[in-house]
Parts: sequence; structure tokens; C-alpha cells
Amino acid sequence: YSGTSGTELKKVPMEINWNPEMVEKQGFPHFMLKEIHEQPRAVAAAIEPHISRAENKVTLKGVGFGGEAIADLDKIDFKKDYALTSEVLSKVERVLIIACGTSYYAAQVGKYLIEHHAHIPVETDIASEFRYRENIVLPNTLVITISQSGETADTLAALRKVKERGARVLSICNVRNSSIDREAHGHLYLNAGPEIGVASTKAFTATIALINCFAINIGVLKGSLSREKEIKYVEALLKAPSQIEAVLNFDKYFDKAAETLGKFRGFLYMGRGVSFPIALEGALKLKELAYLHAEGYAAGEMKHGPLALIDEEMAIIMLAPQDALYDKTLSNLEEARARGGKIIAIGTGDNEHLRRISEHYLPLPKAHWTTNALLEVVPLQLMAYHLANHLGYDVDQPRNLAKSVTVE
Ligand code: M6R
Repeated sequence: YSGTSGTELKKVPMEINWNPEMVEKQGFPHFMLKEIHEQPRAVAAAIEPHISRAENKVTLKGVGFGGEAIADLDKIDFKKDYALTSEVLSKVERVLIIACGTSYYAAQVGKYLIEHHAHIPVETDIASEFRYRENIVLPNTLVITISQSGETADTLAALRKVKERGARVLSICNVRNSSIDREAHGHLYLNAGPEIGVASTKAFTATIALINCFAINIGVLKGSLSREKEIKYVEALLKAPSQIEAVLNFDKYFDKAAETLGKFRGFLYMGRGVSFPIALEGALKLKELAYLHAEGYAAGEMKHGPLALIDEEMAIIMLAPQDALYDKTLSNLEEARARGGKIIAIGTGDNEHLRRISEHYLPLPKAHWTTNALLEVVPLQLMAYHLANHLGYDVDQPRNLAKSVTVE
């Protein structure tokens, strides 16, 4: 019976796809470290339902995808009630992604991918800002909410607001039947298993992997991604779990390096393209776990202010993968170094130059730019974990933070 009204409550049994083992540490000292190590599996589980390995093809499978075909596609009006079918997705003209914290940084990675593959504008917004603004949701905008927990109050409020304005909402979420999941029209699940550490890790990489699938799918449906490119991007994505596995070896590296790294006054994380949101995520991890001052910046913005911060007490964490922007990133790195900054570079393979000019050089396996973010974030998670641990902080329960922010 309801405690407030005294009316009889009807409880509906619900099946969950999590088992008791998943909520144990399984020999790891902390849930966070266990969840970092689960990422190869989490990424594979996120993409598996949507990829045909035989054809290297993406077909999104989720509740809300499918349903009735629409008779007149040119008359699609997103204010009417219909399923998020392939036909509907092919008519999406813009995407708005709303989220908070780490999920918001995953949204920013999604912006680069969707804009590149589908040639449509993608806006990302922080839910706590979006909900209190006069927002314009134009027709044929697909709104995507990202939330690991599905219970973040600001994201839920933003979802309700866009629904009032007639938009269709696709939820990317880890918890089935959570508040956000229940109120969205379409659903893509992370399948990452329970994430218990307050700092989000495996949900972040699972989200980026899933957004890769979404971006490929909508790119194909909109006719802007050739079959050849679809195959290439799917192949890159399928390689990600084993590449993440290789990157997990940095665990031992940061266990040793934590003592030296803990002495810096500040940490400046930088990157370009998809590495920019990863810089933001790396800085967030360090702040929330090790309580150290860290900032994430787009490397190209360095000259517009942060350069003044740099001296020999500042660690510069530079994400410098061998991508189209490598030369530009390298020149930013040289600028930081010339001001005395101590460089921790994350690059591709055995890059002799980066190794020579850095205090710490972390080589990543060669990957396609669309999956680089999945690899780059892992050393940053491990660095924050080991620094926090070394400084004696509670890694799974950082001070002042809750796993899901269900109040404002
Ligand atoms: O459950 P959500 O994905 O909606 O949570 C959003 C943020 O509260 C969350 O990502 C938070 O920033 C994490 N503590 C970051 O590690």
C-alpha cells in the first residue's frame, strides 16, 4: 500500500539481465579498477546486438526501432506518435544530445562521429543548462539522452521538456526500466552490467561504442556513408575490445608512476577532435578521484589563455594520436614544453619523437580515428585511479559525490 495515499500498489515483476557476481569485486581492490578492466567486455556487449559480423554491417536493434512503415515519408512530422523506424531515422535533419558529467563528454564524442558520418548538425547540451533555457527544438530533430543510471534529475527534466515540445527521444542508458528509459520513445542499452564505482568508466566507453554504431547506421540511412566506409568503420569498431585489452597494461605503469605524478601543482589535459572530449573526461576523473586541480582544453585553444598557466610544476597530458590533426597537436605540445610544462604524451605506437620530448610516453595501438577515444581514455582512468589510491582517497566513494544525481 502507498504510504501517502493508502491505495493498493500493483507491483509488476521485472526481469533484469544482471547477476549477483556482477556486483562483487571479484578479486579487485576496488569496483572502479574492476570496471576499468571490464571495458573490453563492456564495449563488445554494447555493440554485439547491432553488428552483423558476417556482413560488417550495423542494424540497430532496440525497443522503438522497427514498427509500422510510414506511408508518405516526405510528410514526416516529428510531432506525431510513431516508432523510431529506419525510415524515420533517415529523415532526421539534426540531432540534439543531452546529458550530464561523463555522459556529456560521451555526447561530445558522438557529435564528431554523427556529423562526420551523417552530414547533419549535432548539438550537445548539458542537461542542467538546457532545462532552464528558452530552447528551440526545430522539426525533425532527434533528441538523444545519455545516462548510465537513467535517474539523473536534470537529464530527466530536459527529456520531459523536449517531449512537451513534440520531439522524439532516443535514450542511451545502462539501466533498463529506469526513469529516463521509461519515458523515452526509443531505447539503446549499454549492456555494460552494473557500474558501482562513483566514477563512470565502462559506461563511458560502452556509450562511445554504441554511438559509433548509431552514427554508422544513420550515416548509411541518410545516404552519406558508402558501403565501403561502413565496412571500414565496423571493422575498426570490432577491433576495439582487444585493443582496449592491450591498453589495460598501463595499470602497472601508473601504479609505479603515481608517486611522481602526485607532486604536480596542476594538470592540463589537451586534445583535438575526438580527443578533446577525452581531455575533458580525463580532467574530470582526476578532479573527482584525486582531488587535484585539472583542466581539459581543446589543444588549439591553448594560446587563448591556458598557456599562461604553464610552468615546470604543471603536468601537460597531451592526447596526440597519429590522426589528421597530429602535426597541429605536436606543435601545441612543443609550445607547452617550451614554457617548462612536463609532458605526459599519449600517442600511437612507437613514436620516437614523442618519447624523446615527454617525461612519460604512453603508446596506444594503431586505431582508426573513430575508435581512438575508446583507447585514449583508459590510461587517463588508470592514472586518476592510481593517483587517488596513492594519495589515500576512497576511490569508489569520492567525497561529496553520489553515483546518481537524483536531486538538483
Ligand atoms: O547516470 P548518468 O550518466 O546520468 O550520470 C551523469 C553524471 O552524474 C556522471 O557521469 C558523473 O559525472 C560521474 N561521477 C563521472 O565519473
